[in-house]
Amino acid sequence: MNSNHILEAAAFVEKSISYQPSLGLILGSGLGVLAEQIENPVKIPYKDIPYFPESTVQGHEGQLVIGELEGQQVITMQGRFHFYEGYSMEQVTFPVRVMKQLGVEKLIVTNAAGGINESFEPGDLMIIRDHINNMGTNPLIGRNDEDLGPRFPDMSEAYDRQLIEHAKDCAQVLNLPVQEGVYVGNTGPSYETGAEIKMLRTLGGDVVGMSTVPEVIVANHTGLSVLGITCISNMAAGILDQPLSHDEVIETTTKVRENFLSFVKQIIRTLPNF
Ligand code: 6GU
Repeated sequence: MNSNHILEAAAFVEKSISYQPSLGLILGSGLGVLAEQIENPVKIPYKDIPYFPESTVQGHEGQLVIGELEGQQVITMQGRFHFYEGYSMEQVTFPVRVMKQLGVEKLIVTNAAGGINESFEPGDLMIIRDHINNMGTNPLIGRNDEDLGPRFPDMSEAYDRQLIEHAKDCAQVLNLPVQEGVYVGNTGPSYETGAEIKMLRTLGGDVVGMSTVPEVIVANHTGLSVLGITCISNMAAGILDQPLSHDEVIETTTKVRENFLSFVKQIIRTLPNF
């Protein structure tokens, strides 16, 4: 990656906006509806932004939406790039670099994932306490640009403790039962076998998905504070006696949409400054 590419992409986005966003949001599968609640939105299709990967998705899940949400200036990715789609790690994480360049300080990442922890249920929301990178690669492999971040970034607080506490407070205020746990990032696109889920549970995973880990590594490299929210869309293999389907993932995320929306909006409305 070339830092000029980041500058060019950011300059392009800056031309269309009048406020500097301080909060970034990445919206996962079925969770893009949050972007529809942004006031005075400026929408920029990924395909128009220099050096953004070419998105294969049609419609709304391939654009930045920038504007005001619950009193904060936000920049939102409505739809993300997945490693399993064939994008490089660099491409998957490029938008995080651009957000940083635009002045973003905090990043909320969201996803749908399968439940590994047997006390979880489809439809639960989970605050990500930590992650396990099980993708077999790392977006920071290669020459390090010291201007972007350190060669060996600390990941001991990859998910900001203050933001986790804030999210827990918000869940309590809304009287929403919200789980907390460890997200395992796998490449996909196949779902895991029952044996793999058993292994991941032994290793300390609570949910498993196909995103988030690369973006969070780069966010930490570039000095952003991260909050992660998972929507548990289904139980992983070997827990319930039923096959997994993407339709179930979409169906469940649609069902918990209202909870998800009120949770994230409460988090944003009352976001502490630090
Ligand atoms: Cl069970 N596994 C993975 N890797 N991603 C998922 C999932 C399971 N359910 C939703 N997304």
